[in-house]
Amino acid sequence: MKPNVIRTLNFVHDAAEFILQHARTALAERDQFRIALAGGNTPRPIYTEFARIGRELPWDRVFFTFGDERCVPPGDPQSNFRMARESLFVLAAVPEKSIARVRGEIEPQLAAQEYQDNLDLLAAQRHEMIYRHDVILLGMGNDGHTASLFPGTAALEEKALKVVANFVPKMDSWRITFTFPLINQARHVCFLANANKNAALLETVLQGDQRYPAARVEPANGDLTWILGEA
Ligand code: 6PG
Repeated sequence: MKPNVIRTLNFVHDAAEFILQHARTALAERDQFRIALAGGNTPRPIYTEFARIGRELPWDRVFFTFGDERCVPPGDPQSNFRMARESLFVLAAVPEKSIARVRGEIEPQLAAQEYQDNLDLLAAQRHEMIYRHDVILLGMGNDGHTASLFPGTAALEEKALKVVANFVPKMDSWRITFTFPLINQARHVCFLANANKNAALLETVLQGDQRYPAARVEPANGDLTWILGEA
């Protein structure tokens, strides 16, 4: 799939603006904006900017999910929920009912099953076969992983389940992650990569090198955008 690539010197603002535009469209068309947040460090300033420029959004009609989560309690410095709470939820006063937190503090398989059941219930309420995000934000690691779909791990081959517990040997830890079936169901998938990212890897992934999980994201009925920050 040929992605839409946006190279920008205003990475944080342009990424936040991208999210805001899709939020407005989804709210206008379906009276709800369903967005999955990426973890890691890159999105942090983007979430804060989104909270600032989107302060007028009806946050009670925005629904936040997480593309992946570390298996830690919500207050842990490693928690993607904690990062989002600090950089977005508190600043925008997002109501708790608008946030679907992955319970990283419980047994990983149970946390994944619980999260998938929650998404299945929400999808059924909308008469959808599978939960369809308006936007899924993703990052990419320097090994080409995305969400917690790491090279050589079991979750890469999952074709049916939408959320799984994935053991990551290089980290000797479990992660909870969306699988490709769920990611590829989104209307818009957007990778966020700032200027610190490995440029050669980025170009290889953009060319579709399937050795890297980030290159295997292909929305079935949606579009794919890469917003690349330039130094
Ligand atoms: C996570 C992320 C992961 C992240 C990449 C890039 O939980 O770590 O979801 O996929 O997006 O590792 O991380 P940085 O933005 O910190 O470079």
